[in-house]
Amino acid sequence: MKNIVVIGAGTMGNGIAHTAAVSGLDVKLIDVSDQLVGQAIDTISANLQRGVDKGRMSADEKQSALGRIRPATDVAAAAGADLVVEAIIESLGPKTQLFAKLDEITPPDCILASNTSSISITKIGAATKRPDKVIGMHFMNPVPVMTLVEVIRGIATSDDTYQRVEQLAKSMGKTPIEVNDYPGFVSNRVLMPMINEAIFALYEGVATPQAIDGVMKLGMNHPMGPLTLADFIGLDVCLAILRVLEEGFGDPKYRPCPLLVKMVDAGWLGRKSGRGFYKY
Ligand code: CAA
Repeated sequence: MKNIVVIGAGTMGNGIAHTAAVSGLDVKLIDVSDQLVGQAIDTISANLQRGVDKGRMSADEKQSALGRIRPATDVAAAAGADLVVEAIIESLGPKTQLFAKLDEITPPDCILASNTSSISITKIGAATKRPDKVIGMHFMNPVPVMTLVEVIRGIATSDDTYQRVEQLAKSMGKTPIEVNDYPGFVSNRVLMPMINEAIFALYEGVATPQAIDGVMKLGMNHPMGPLTLADFIGLDVCLAILRVLEEGFGDPKYRPCPLLVKMVDAGWLGRKSGRGFYKY
């Protein structure tokens, strides 16, 4: 697979385009406006520059990687793709609409992958006439740094689709891990209850944010404490994933902490809004 299309030029989409381009793939990066795609290219350029500054790549290699990324502002640019990775807003309606459209315009053997962090791949696949070619490719943030790609098989995903995506993830320098489609997959089914429990500990006055994060960093060797990580991921995203777990399993053990709900109501969404458990 050589022609990769990434739809959605936010943090995840630009990281995926960055990683694909560095591994030699031609990438089209699509979002709804020139401004959004332009900002994404600037971010990719700045992140590639970290590699140049650290001596991991030359300035020429940076320029060739950037040259492999072609910006576009219309989904029609996905026609001719071998594989599309969708990284748009984390909401079922917009995703199923986009997949139905991609099903119409891409070649019949094109694989349609979603970078969703918790939405059902089976549901997304059902919006197309090719559910055997719909799969989850869940990259982790920051994409250029994190080695995992959680590859999620919907109920109808074929072995051929899985193997092609596994191969692609490896050629992007990532380590694919196969999981089945259940709420939160593995990553967020395990991560979000930990983050939620850390928020409950804060809510109940067990310790300060710094102390909770300090215990997990120094005691468990996590690179970031759970509250810092929640701010990094986005508190709205954490809440949305907990809701998917709560609704999908019908189990109250996934009940989001009321403090998380209140902070999201206040617009305290973590790093991206300047305030979460910490101020930025
Ligand atoms: N692009 C490219 N390179 C980047 C980068 C980016 N966006 N962000 C960091 N880096 C590089 C830095 O250049 C640096 O490179 P060197 O090792 O060569 O120096 C390296 O990554 C480490 O960065 P820093 O020195 O700036 O900072 P750090 O050591 O504190 O590491 C971190 C930052 C990699 C983010 C680290 O704190 C970490 O691993 N945190 C946990 C991240 C995590 O858990 N991610 C998963 C979130 S969950 C998710 O994504 C999925 C979901 O569904 C919610």
